[in-house]
Amino acid sequence: MKILLVGATGAIGGAVHAALSDRGHDVIAAHRGSREWPVDISDPAQIGDIVRRAGVLDAVACTAGSTPFGPWREMDRDAWMSGINSKLLGQVELVRQAADHVRTGGSFTLITGILAREPIRTGSVASAVNGALEAWVRASAAELWGEQRINAVSPTVLTESLGKYGEAFPGFRSVPAADVGRAFVRSIEGTDTGRIYAV
Ligand SMILES: NC(=O)c1ccc[n+]([C@@H]2O[C@H](COP(=O)([O-])OP(=O)(O)OC[C@H]3O[C@@H](n4cnc5c(N)ncnc54)[C@H](OP(=O)(O)O)[C@@H]3O)[C@@H](O)[C@H]2O)c1
Repeated sequence: MKILLVGATGAIGGAVHAALSDRGHDVIAAHRGSREWPVDISDPAQIGDIVRRAGVLDAVACTAGSTPFGPWREMDRDAWMSGINSKLLGQVELVRQAADHVRTGGSFTLITGILAREPIRTGSVASAVNGALEAWVRASAAELWGEQRINAVSPTVLTESLGKYGEAFPGFRSVPAADVGRAFVRSIEGTDTGRIYAV
């Protein structure tokens, strides 16, 4: 399959890229710093450019987008808007614009995260953004029925990211990035739609 993967160099994106390449897929590896396939998902014009350049696709996967972390009282409107513009509207806009470029029966797979269902201190914006994305994926599956499939992968903290984020996730189980990669393969090669894969 020809797959546009946005966020392809990240901790999760790298594992997804490896899993899809191992399965023989043709992966267009996009991210802001890419020389060949640059895109910033917080900029709708850049999304339009890359989906037009990519041509007809079998799938779009996204492992990009960030949210601010910090004490609840410090999450002001600017902080909220940065998370909404990047991870939430960035992924929504990617699907909206790519919908005309993904073949019938093709799929979208987005990234959310455990904070949608299990809160931590400092994670209020991430919880809200992940929860909104998961609700939107379920709603979109119904409207895209018969056209394209859409799912989300919602991981706990990565084992590989424990050094960076472990302190914020006391007592949480971690997941190896390779397991997250497999969830993307399942979404892309399988038949599910409207699923949130908690890994
Ligand atoms: N790591 C974890 O433990 C974990 C667990 C659950 C959920 N998540 C979620 O998974 C997502 C990725 O996390 P990660 O840890 O893999 O991040 P990461 O290692 O920082 O990688 C992010 C990737 O996305 C690209 N990127 C970042 N912002 C972008 C943008 N606006 N437009 C296009 N590409 C962009 C980065 O490349 P450039 O900088 O070149 O653009 C990079 O390829 C995040 O939404 C995070 O909340 C992470």
